[in-house]
Amino acid sequence: MFKLFRAYSGDPILSLLPRFQNDPRPEKINLGIGLYFDETGVVPILDSVRQMLATRGEPVVDLSYLPMAGDTAYRQVVQELLFGQTAECIQNRRVSTIQTLGGTGGLKVGADVLHHNFPTAEVWICDPTWDNHVSIFAGAGFQVHRYPYFDAANGCVDFAALSETLSGVSPHSVVLFHACCHNPTGADLSHPQWDALIEIIGAQRLIPFFDFAYQGFGQGLDEDCYAIRAMANAGISFLVANSFSKNFGLYGERCGALSFVCQDASEAECARGQMELAVRQNYSSPPRHGARIITGVLKDALLRKCWTQEVEAMRLRLATLRQGLYTALQQRSPEQDFSYLLKQAGMFCFIGLNQAMVEELRERFAIYAIGNGRLCLAGLRHNAIEYVAKAIIEVSRPSPLNQKFA
Ligand code: LMR
Repeated sequence: MFKLFRAYSGDPILSLLPRFQNDPRPEKINLGIGLYFDETGVVPILDSVRQMLATRGEPVVDLSYLPMAGDTAYRQVVQELLFGQTAECIQNRRVSTIQTLGGTGGLKVGADVLHHNFPTAEVWICDPTWDNHVSIFAGAGFQVHRYPYFDAANGCVDFAALSETLSGVSPHSVVLFHACCHNPTGADLSHPQWDALIEIIGAQRLIPFFDFAYQGFGQGLDEDCYAIRAMANAGISFLVANSFSKNFGLYGERCGALSFVCQDASEAECARGQMELAVRQNYSSPPRHGARIITGVLKDALLRKCWTQEVEAMRLRLATLRQGLYTALQQRSPEQDFSYLLKQAGMFCFIGLNQAMVEELRERFAIYAIGNGRLCLAGLRHNAIEYVAKAIIEVSRPSPLNQKFA
């Protein structure tokens, strides 16, 4: 029977990592996977996490199952981090949050709940997006459509095309958004654009589903919550899948959450039940360790302050790497305009590299990027900026990058 199986071609992001690790060239640079590396090329363990484990890492006394929804204290701190401690939606208990296996687990549970309850609903996902989004929603049974997102000529959001498309989408469709630090483009909606979108969503009665994997890496921990908080204040019902892989550096612990923002407390209670059902069908209950670390840090004033500063330091370092790459590219190719790079935010930048250019970067320069042209700034080091800029300009000649966009 298993002879019928087709070979898996691998994941465009995850399969690149072992390839990079096995590359013997000493000059290699990993701008592929969205991992935050420090200046020494190491994925750092945050001080707040280390301190939490050192001071509060007493022997674990309970190894029994967590409930299907996960750890209660964790669910509470996550909710407060997303919506703000005094948020009306929390006070009125109209948000229901469960612990999930990373942001991906949150997306999968949310997709299952939505497809189970709205079997004829379709999903709309931005183009381009994180490679796994289409796979998750198609895997949950949805028919997946794409809405235009990126203005390639100007390196920013194509808001006119986006809003025109979403204005014509049928009611009760699910629409996936990136809350901040759009993956792969780094191009985010402005506050007025989010406000305009909320009007469209309300008028069309759409179901927004936010992927929130980079909180703190865009404009700041609270600032990056603008879209989800504005949506909650507008009384829209929606979902948020968030991840602590990047902002806690807890990639391997699979720490995330899924929140349903509802109209009232009884609806939220039922949403929790639906999420629990989907969790039970997929993996029964989440693991303990990562949630314990995050709760320990966020509930301790000093550790929380330390963590907040660490996230801010990562954010600022990404911004200086972005500025450095911009300057180096602009100096090497003054006839092109790279200023759009500075308006993009977060871990990623998108400068119009095509598949052939990405392959040449890897083969000739040992620089790894994703096939769609995405570069992860968090894999760059300041002393490698000139090398990377030179290589980018070299592989992109004779067709300038900006022209490739158009
Ligand atoms: C990425 O986009 O590179 C990360 O989110 C890692 C992943 O799971 O794809």
